Amino acid sequence: MKGTIILKGNIIDTPTKDQFRCVENGYLVAVDNEIKGVFQELPAEYAKEEVTDYGNLLIIPGMYDMHVHAPQFVYRGLGLDMQLMQWLETYAFPTESRFSDEEYARTYYRAFVQTLKKNGTARAVVFGTIHVPAAEILMDIMEEEKVGGFAGKINMDTLCPDFLREDSQQSVADTREWLERNVSKRTLVKPAVTPRFIPTCTSQVLEGLGKLVKEYQVPVHSHISEDIGEMDIVRGRYPEYAHDGAVYDHFGLLTDKTVMAHFVYPAEEELELIRDRGVTIAHCPQSNGNVAAGIPPIRKMLDMGIKVGLGSDIAGGYSPCLFRAMSEAVYLSKLKWLESGKEEDFLSVPEAFYLGTKGGGQFFGKVGSFEEGYELDALVLDDTSLSVSLDHFSLTERLERLIHVGDDRNITARYVAGEKA
Ligand code: GUN
Ligand code: FE
Repeated sequence: MKGTIILKGNIIDTPTKDQFRCVENGYLVAVDNEIKGVFQELPAEYAKEEVTDYGNLLIIPGMYDMHVHAPQFVYRGLGLDMQLMQWLETYAFPTESRFSDEEYARTYYRAFVQTLKKNGTARAVVFGTIHVPAAEILMDIMEEEKVGGFAGKINMDTLCPDFLREDSQQSVADTREWLERNVSKRTLVKPAVTPRFIPTCTSQVLEGLGKLVKEYQVPVHSHISEDIGEMDIVRGRYPEYAHDGAVYDHFGLLTDKTVMAHFVYPAEEELELIRDRGVTIAHCPQSNGNVAAGIPPIRKMLDMGIKVGLGSDIAGGYSPCLFRAMSEAVYLSKLKWLESGKEEDFLSVPEAFYLGTKGGGQFFGKVGSFEEGYELDALVLDDTSLSVSLDHFSLTERLERLIHVGDDRNITARYVAGEKA
């Protein structure tokens, strides 16, 4: 996008995770989708440019959904009194099989992507289904609606119902053709290799995908060490590997372009492996509670220098709104704090905000913060509906209230990659 965009308002971001950076009544300047800075006074060189004045509203970076299942949008909110494996069999698999129908995919994927957009998601890392045509429909719709990021045709050739089971060789061959066609087809949306998780992929498929990742240099998106039932299956199949991480690593699926959801039960050396490979963890607090997976040690991951972002994990999570993920990341970390005998500090609100913005944003490049040289992803928030009077609150308190009690109705404008979207 060419041209200068200048937004005026109360500008807040988290260049570092420890604290909010605020500029009240400031100017956010971007030229050709490159941020020049946040200024209290507009620099003279921009004096002749048009300014979009958002008055007393808040301007924050884009929010990033690092793990979400597009087809599961259909049944979000159902079966949340089940555990993971039962929930997959009852709802996920039958629903996902319907995406062999392209008309069905068009209808539901449009509704899904519009919902992400309405909730302020700038970019996302998205699971599709095994069906290649549906995955391409999803990518087209994301591009059209300006929801950037990565989407995947998923791979699944074992431990799933016959109606969703791929032939192992075909699964890899289809993925190759799909990558070939889509790797540089769109501007905002690219393909990610997406094995569902270790239990539903044979070693033949994982090995084939590892080779494709190396050949095409594309991201990987999957689930890791999410649930005791899942991990038992993996230990049974690969007794020579101590944890999910070692299995993925063996097949070449852990790179600095890998995002893995959950990591609820990481082994000590698995944490080090994930950090050393530069993998991003998608923390999905609502889902971790809903499917009774457990509470991941996010504080420990952050202290170790592991990259962490937030995900909705629709439909393990029922809400597509990343404010919910931020709020519930703090909430779940408090339960972890209690569970750890008050040893493992809970997350602060700026930390949760950082995870939902810059923490996930780094996966897509330089987004999620208003630092110089970053791309312009931004949201304009109107919190007037949350209070009788805003006079009681500082700027950071206003943002804190939006995180905990705000929703899509508080989003006034959305900018993605230097364009109003
Ligand atoms: N593990 C494998 N598939 C899924 C899924 O659809 N949702 C969640 N939460 N975990 C999974
Ligand atoms: Fe998931």
